[in-house]
Amino acid sequence: MSEAPLIEYRGVARQFTSRRGTVMACEGVDLTVHRGEFLAIVGPSGCGKSTLLNMAAGLLKPSTGRVFYHGAPVPEPNTLVGYMTQRDTLLPWRTVEDNVAIALELRGQRKTERHRHAHDWIKRVGLSGFETAYPAQLSGGMRRRVSMARTLAYEPETILMDEPFGALDAQLRLVMHDELLKLWAATGTTMVFVTHDLTEAITLADRVAVFSARPGRIRAIETVDLPRPRDVFRIRFDPRFGELHDRLWRYLEESVRGDIMVG
Ligand SMILES: Nc1ncnc2c1ncn2[C@@H]1O[C@H](COP(=O)(O)OP(=O)(O)OP(=O)(O)O)[C@@H](O)[C@H]1O
Ligand SMILES: [Mg+2]
Repeated sequence: MSEAPLIEYRGVARQFTSRRGTVMACEGVDLTVHRGEFLAIVGPSGCGKSTLLNMAAGLLKPSTGRVFYHGAPVPEPNTLVGYMTQRDTLLPWRTVEDNVAIALELRGQRKTERHRHAHDWIKRVGLSGFETAYPAQLSGGMRRRVSMARTLAYEPETILMDEPFGALDAQLRLVMHDELLKLWAATGTTMVFVTHDLTEAITLADRVAVFSARPGRIRAIETVDLPRPRDVFRIRFDPRFGELHDRLWRYLEESVRGDIMVG
């Protein structure tokens, strides 16, 4: 196929200058995200993972190199992507249903229609009954689920997720993995998913990119050739899962050890 890749990072570096000096977040990043794929990004804290997502969302420009979306420079902002940011961006003065419905409102959907739509997503993330609650009345994990419902309700072409399930307990995390994979399979959405958790990355993704410590560079990209649909509860016991986990763990360990030595 000669189709342009959906997202393409070419020779990307990004530095930040503050009163404390200059920090090179990532460097020399060449990465292609194909249409419809599920790509996971793992790497030590501070290696530029959120920075890379911000660039695909059109919120940040590279210092060096270029980022393309559908073969053209990323629009600012990129309205074709839904972005579940690492930090909670729920509006405290809006109820759960009104937070989830924000994007639908901007899209001009009528009130009854967007409420029906929002309620459907609230149910899918397991929060039925909390439609009229305010974010301050929810636990951290519940707030993450509201953010997820809001991102998914928008039904974007591409979804960027930055450590979306970090605050959830292990069982709920698996339930959310299952939901996310079903949704992804049903819609053909392209997913770029940042996580610290290698098991989560392998369970979900078609490919896993491991980044080095700051400045983040791609250390390895492995294809996860485990069949789909995947049983998120059992897949970690597949011997091929174990092999892949060991291999990726070695790269990650080197990255993390490097990070500790650098300080
Ligand atoms: N707006 C900013 N101004 C100054 N420095 C920044 C800014 N954004 C990021 N940085 C720095 O760039 C580096 C990479 O940050 P980034 O948030 O991309 O890392 P990360 O890989 O997402 O880390 P984590 O896993 O902890 O979320 C860090 O050293 C951070 O301090
Ligand atoms: Mg981050």
